[in-house]
Amino acid sequence: MSCLILKKLKEITTTTKKRNLITYSNPDSIITEEYRTIRTNIQFTLDEKQYKSILLTSPSKEEGKSTTVANLAVSMAQQKQKVLVIDADLRNPRIHSIFKLDNSVGLTSLLTSKNWLESAIKKINIGNLDILTSGPIQNNPAELLGSKEFQELLQPLFKMYDVILIDSPPVLDVTDTKLIANQCDSVVLVLKEGKSKIEKAIEAKKVLKFAKAKLIGTIINEKS
Ligand SMILES: Nc1ncnc2c1ncn2[C@@H]1O[C@H](COP(=O)(O)OP(=O)(O)OP(=O)(O)O)[C@@H](O)[C@H]1O
Ligand SMILES: [Mg+2]
Repeated sequence: MSCLILKKLKEITTTTKKRNLITYSNPDSIITEEYRTIRTNIQFTLDEKQYKSILLTSPSKEEGKSTTVANLAVSMAQQKQKVLVIDADLRNPRIHSIFKLDNSVGLTSLLTSKNWLESAIKKINIGNLDILTSGPIQNNPAELLGSKEFQELLQPLFKMYDVILIDSPPVLDVTDTKLIANQCDSVVLVLKEGKSKIEKAIEAKKVLKFAKAKLIGTIINEKS
């Protein structure tokens, strides 16, 4: 598979509960440095225009998408960038639990009723990092993500932030990711070493190409 490997990421090994947000809880760790390397590699790969919105996905579930989105976002925010994380995994959202945020209002609230952006986006105390959690789970995630409302929602956000990182469901399991992939400037594939079968990785690449997504590279999570 010819696709740039942005970084092979070590297993996060800490016994504390803050394991999922290691870039915040342990800024001097080797793994935090690895997230910085991914940040730099993404910045070198993309020009300014393409750098706006980056969708992270993987072929199958539990390969490390949400953990990578969260830590990359912290790493970018620590570099003084204005960063927004959007949890577009409306089936199995996890961003709110990683950042310990209330999820009663979020993306689905904005897509299903007239909520103000400002009331749905949460500011947290890490640099200029804001979070749009998934919001309450709805029974029609694909319709919501494929809607005109979702496209219209992204436009003002592109003006408000330096970079927007979007978490998503596994691209081969459900249609949701395909619906939003071509609305993002670039896509990064997160693979778990040993878990991601090469055929599935190739299939994911094909599916993303078919969806007119701009796949810029992969991050490989080391086998635990
Ligand atoms: N580099 C890593 N080292 C150790 N554990 C990790 C690493 N990346 C992810 N994990 C762990 O693997 C599990 C799955 O990670 P995560 O939730 O980020 O995956 P996901 O791809 O978003 O899953 P889903 O498909 O369910 O949304 C979590 O328990 C997370 O803490
Ligand atoms: Mg996830």
